[in-house]
Amino acid sequence: MKIIVADNSGFCFGVKKAMDSTMDVLENRKSDNKGQQVHSLGPLIHNNQATEKLERLGLHVIDDIADVNEGKVIIRSHGVPLDVYEVAEENNIELVDCTCPFVRKIQKKVTKCYNEGKDIVIIGNPDHPEVIGINGWCHNKAHIINSVQDVEKMPKLGTVCVVSQTTATNETFTELSNLVSEKSENAEIYNTICNATKLRQNSCRDIASEVDAMIIVGGYHSSNTQKLVEIAKKYCNNVYHVEIAQELPLDTLKNYKTVGIAAGASTPTWIIEEVYKKMVDINENNDNKESMEELLKNDTVSISKGDVIQGEIITIGEGKIDVNINYKADGVISKGEFVNDLEALQKLSVGDKIDVLVVELNDGEGNVVLSKTKVDNEKALKDLETAFENGEVVSAKVNGVVKGGVTVNVKGLRGFIPASQVSTQFIKDLNSLVGEELDARIIEFDKKKNNIVLSRKQVEAEENESTKDKVWSKIQKGQKVMGQVKRLANFGAFIDIGGIDGLAHISDLAWTRIKEPSEVLAVGDQVEVLILDIDKDKDRVSLGVKQLTDHPFEKAAGNYKMGDIVDGKVVRLFNFGAFIQLEEGVDGLVHISQISDDRISDPSEKLNVGDMVKVKILNIDTEERKIELSIKEADTTKLEEIKKYQSSSEDEGYSIGDMLNLKK
Ligand code: F3S
Repeated sequence: MKIIVADNSGFCFGVKKAMDSTMDVLENRKSDNKGQQVHSLGPLIHNNQATEKLERLGLHVIDDIADVNEGKVIIRSHGVPLDVYEVAEENNIELVDCTCPFVRKIQKKVTKCYNEGKDIVIIGNPDHPEVIGINGWCHNKAHIINSVQDVEKMPKLGTVCVVSQTTATNETFTELSNLVSEKSENAEIYNTICNATKLRQNSCRDIASEVDAMIIVGGYHSSNTQKLVEIAKKYCNNVYHVEIAQELPLDTLKNYKTVGIAAGASTPTWIIEEVYKKMVDINENNDNKESMEELLKNDTVSISKGDVIQGEIITIGEGKIDVNINYKADGVISKGEFVNDLEALQKLSVGDKIDVLVVELNDGEGNVVLSKTKVDNEKALKDLETAFENGEVVSAKVNGVVKGGVTVNVKGLRGFIPASQVSTQFIKDLNSLVGEELDARIIEFDKKKNNIVLSRKQVEAEENESTKDKVWSKIQKGQKVMGQVKRLANFGAFIDIGGIDGLAHISDLAWTRIKEPSEVLAVGDQVEVLILDIDKDKDRVSLGVKQLTDHPFEKAAGNYKMGDIVDGKVVRLFNFGAFIQLEEGVDGLVHISQISDDRISDPSEKLNVGDMVKVKILNIDTEERKIELSIKEADTTKLEEIKKYQSSSEDEGYSIGDMLNLKK
């Protein structure tokens, strides 16, 4: 037969403390030989054998503190209502307070919430001394619930504070606290199931699910032992609850191949040992040779100040985080630790496994003081040191602007980026970066002084280079690409085409004549451009904007035909003629010979820039985008005269040429 004893069986921290304190008091009483009476308010623990043993040593169990006139009264680990302390003080009774620190915590929580006007709900057995005691810390006004029916009977509540008996099961607590939440306006839920209880329940569940039979050792009135029986029955079909070894059904048990043993938190080790020995004895060929000490692995790890250990977040309260560290007491992390990194706090959730540093073993209330940020910072420093040595890029969140640069949060630590290292581009207002995550490289690192200086500019420059390489390999002359206008100069516009800035000369921005690039483009504009030329050696790309739009000439050409007489404006004068604008982007040339019938040596003799004139279209060359015009042939008066002469000359036999010459 294989016998497995569950880890964490037997006395818990609170019960052991109460037992040790009581034994001390009884021992001292003997040595003082004063014969002083020592009382315990109720049985010290829920175990008949242990109680009998203590009685033999002189411990006198009482039910009511008012029954005591002299001597000391031991308050057991379950705790008592507040008024017991008041009666003891009034009657001058010395108390030896063995209330477990975990129970004390619940009592304090209940008092605080009750004084704040909240309704108190205790999930637990209303007849259990611990629950009665807790209720006594809120003037016995708590709603005590132990089942779904109890919740149904409860009235609708306002803001409630829900706590649990330390020995409740997680399943019950979760189910009932959820129901209470639904029945109240606002619920503050505090899972106050003691860690020792959880550990015992988990060990019991694990073993019960792998053995043929399960023996639960502990007092029949012990709440935590009853819970173990409940859990074991869920996972194993053959569960035997015994108080002492003599009650073991050995004839039945010897038929099983594997037997598990678990014991409640109030079961003395000697009883577990007896049970174990009996089981070993019924199996001559057993190979269970381990000592009791080995078998009853302590429910707690041993920890010291300065240790880094792993814990699991149990609750996240207003000012602190409770952490299960598998120690006899829970650990607490003050939320004040996260004052400079609230995001890190927001990322934490109940159930998270976290590494923590043991700062103090006792905060005065029995909790272990822990620090998460100290562990995180140490780890972060190591990581950053490695990143610095390897030139790795790290993520840094900008916290604020200080003289000379910006401060950043890098892996939870404070870093600094000098203004000159912030970017490859000029940033007018560094405040615009606050809240942004930047990729940066550590350029100075001093672990001792916590001095971390970073450069985002270096990373940006490298990124730009690599982007440029990619763009160079992709672009071709004649290709159309999208770009963003980065900068305007009087000679053109610099346009980013995905990592490279190309130049669109002013003459390539529009078909019409413009004085400034700003007449057609603004910084930030997204614009499609044509790649006119590429010179990688000189790092130059020429771009055209107008080339991707229709030439106005082509649009307008259809509006005109040869022989039309139209209005135009003199826009430029040259010695060979004058350019006349017919409409925006459509200019035609009047050769000097076509300006006037008079012989002139310069167009300015007859025309000024800005003059409006009538012109006749002599020729349209669509391919060359050229229009030839004549002013003198557009003179309609002359044409009428010609017509007149033409009709009379038919009679007199003159040609048109003759008539023109005659007129001259
Ligand atoms: Fe205390 Fe938990 Fe034991 S509350 S008495 S350590 S079961």
